[in-house]
Amino acid sequence: MAGNRTFTMIKPDAVEKGHIGGILEQITASGFKIVALKMTQMTQADAEEFYAIHKERPFFGELVEFMTRGPIVSAVLEKENAVEDFRTLIGATNPEDAAEGTIRKKYAESVGENAVHGSDSDENAQIEAAFHFSGREIF
Ligand code: RTP
Ligand code: MG
Repeated sequence: MAGNRTFTMIKPDAVEKGHIGGILEQITASGFKIVALKMTQMTQADAEEFYAIHKERPFFGELVEFMTRGPIVSAVLEKENAVEDFRTLIGATNPEDAAEGTIRKKYAESVGENAVHGSDSDENAQIEAAFHFSGREIF
């Protein structure tokens, strides 16, 4: 999927608030094609592995607790320049710093509970998509 695919999750806060439809609508209206989609709940082990890169950070425990407290919607998205364009669409990690109109500006509450995830590189997009989806679930 080099170059034209990214991986996203609608995080538990946004699912709890009923924003799945609004967020998916904004994603597809922005030119991304959904090529994989499902609702799941991560276990503690899943979240610890997915966010292993952050395990020494002070917020790691909170992050794992947050990401496992309810269902998420995960997806693989296709578009030219997908990783970078999707990071632009979601906005800064802290919604206070996110640009007007971005998904985090509209739907996120705080730096911890920030509504959506977006892969930060082509390599991580590939790893993260494979973590959440089997080959038969990606189209
Ligand atoms: P993500 O990986 O979820 O797309 O977010 P990101 O790249 O914008 O931010 P990253 O630095 O990768 O952080 C991962 C997630 O950890 C939580 N976080 N909490 N309390 C805090 O200071 C803090 N900092 C980060 C957020 O949920 C962030 O999205
Ligand atoms: Mg990140």
